Amino acid sequence: MRRMPFSLLLIFLLFICIGYVSTLALSNDHSNTMRLELIHRHAPQLMGKVFGGRPKTQLQRIKELLHSDSIRQHMISHKRRLSLSQRRKAWETPRSNCSSSSSSSIEMAIGSGAYHGAGQYFVALKVGTPAQKFMVIADTGSDLTWMNCEYRCGQDCSKKKRLKHRRVFHADGSSSFRTVPCLSEMCKIELMNLFSLTSCPTPLTPCAYDYRYADGSAALGFFANETISLGLSNGRKTKLDDVLIGCSESVQGQSVQAADGVLGLGFSKYSFAFKAAAKFGGKFSYCLVDHLSPKNVSNYLTFGSHINTAASPNDMQFTKLLLGVISPLYAVNVMGISSGGVMLDIPFEVWDINGVGGTVFDSGTSLTYLTVPAYQPVMAALEASLLRFGKLKLDIKPLNYCFNSTGFDESLVPRLAFHFADGARFEPPVKSYVIDAAPGVKCVGFVSTSWPGTSVIGNIMQQNNLWEFDLVQNKLGFAPSTCT
Ligand SMILES: *[C@@H]1O[C@H](CO)[C@@H](O)[C@H](O)[C@H]1NC(C)=O
Ligand SMILES: *[C@@H]1O[C@H](CO)[C@@H](O)[C@H](O)[C@H]1NC(C)=O
Ligand SMILES: *[C@@H]1O[C@H](CO)[C@@H](O)[C@H](O)[C@H]1NC(C)=O
Ligand SMILES: *[C@@H]1O[C@H](CO)[C@@H](O)[C@H](O)[C@H]1NC(C)=O
Repeated sequence: MRRMPFSLLLIFLLFICIGYVSTLALSNDHSNTMRLELIHRHAPQLMGKVFGGRPKTQLQRIKELLHSDSIRQHMISHKRRLSLSQRRKAWETPRSNCSSSSSSSIEMAIGSGAYHGAGQYFVALKVGTPAQKFMVIADTGSDLTWMNCEYRCGQDCSKKKRLKHRRVFHADGSSSFRTVPCLSEMCKIELMNLFSLTSCPTPLTPCAYDYRYADGSAALGFFANETISLGLSNGRKTKLDDVLIGCSESVQGQSVQAADGVLGLGFSKYSFAFKAAAKFGGKFSYCLVDHLSPKNVSNYLTFGSHINTAASPNDMQFTKLLLGVISPLYAVNVMGISSGGVMLDIPFEVWDINGVGGTVFDSGTSLTYLTVPAYQPVMAALEASLLRFGKLKLDIKPLNYCFNSTGFDESLVPRLAFHFADGARFEPPVKSYVIDAAPGVKCVGFVSTSWPGTSVIGNIMQQNNLWEFDLVQNKLGFAPSTCT
């Protein structure tokens, strides 16, 4: 092999670091698609089963969503700080190894908070052989898929502290359950980002984790490979083998009512999304119906080419997905917001993900969060059109403009558009940012977040569009859709 120039070598190493992306292209199965029904936490099907039941009024629902958003914002800004400090470290001390750079900040890592109240969508998941069924939180902010779980604990099983009324995965009863040994490279290096522990009493001891959450609670368990059974769109079934799962033996901290576990849809080598996309053409997509005015319509998370006929391929626009920048979140390159066709005056730095700004596209956040320099001009543009309605004094704290919607008509509000750096333009329906907060009351659905910081496009803004995440070509496709 000829000698490579140093800069080329660096680029080469960088490609090894992020190169696992290309392995997605290897094992495609274009012939079919796989669907999982996404159930919103307030949906009637889950009534009483999660988070203490469905809030009674629309206002209570909004407040609950805002509360879980605040936990989520905490997680996103934490991951953001983590990625900034890692970037700085990588800059200051060049290493011969890409995997080692993350080790120093591991103790700072925290989970997404999805499990502790911030989960928005649930899916039914079949795990193991024979399959055991669970209701887990589908989270684009999590990389680890895990379940409450029991393994070789015999009499002790019942003594472990765990959440009441939750199903438990009985690992002993699954013939496809394979623990990841603590002596393996996978445990010692690759799973470090997933909070693997260094203790290794015997070589075959399962690789343990201590998954910390922002509120101080934790899930303790160990890693294993397991088979997950999935339904295909043609009605047949398929299996995904060697999916990394967490077997959570105990949960410490506040026992909030939550799900049986978490389905990791974030972008990372061991996430379910990555593994499933690799089998189904490198893509997954979803289309969310308006959950503030619930109709009995299902949302689906689809792996493989989307089968949504309401969005014709010609209507699709594409923008780059910035993967691995705020891992495992999906970031996008927004460069401006226009109101009624006029670009708003927002400083460039707000959108600069390589600086201290940037935008995350997040299904686990409900509302849309703009850093102050973007929030102010957007609110000014909307408020100017709503002056005649007058502001209502309501206790929905971070929502600053709520009004009596008697006589309101969407045509009064200027159409907003998010402009992406590569020319794509996302124009959400007005109801995605002037939202129903209570009977006869609407609120402007933007929340301000501190600057410097990350802006977040939440799931209410995403509704009534089909979103396709292409993890091979690093692009996000979208088109208006009725999601039916
Ligand atoms: C690089 O990783 C290997 C294991 O893959 C480890 O043995 C070695 O110490 C690491 N080197 C540095 C400089 O961190
Ligand atoms: C688990 O699966 C990974 C592939 O995702 C594989 O590399 C590893 O060897 C497997 N480990 C065990 C213990 O089966
Ligand atoms: C929603 O529709 C499904 C069938 O499509 C039905 O089984 C279910 O009971 C309905 N739920 C409600 C709350 O109407
Ligand atoms: C809104 O205004 C109308 C008429 O002015 C009034 O009847 C109604 O009670 C008001 N609704 C709220 C929620 O304040």
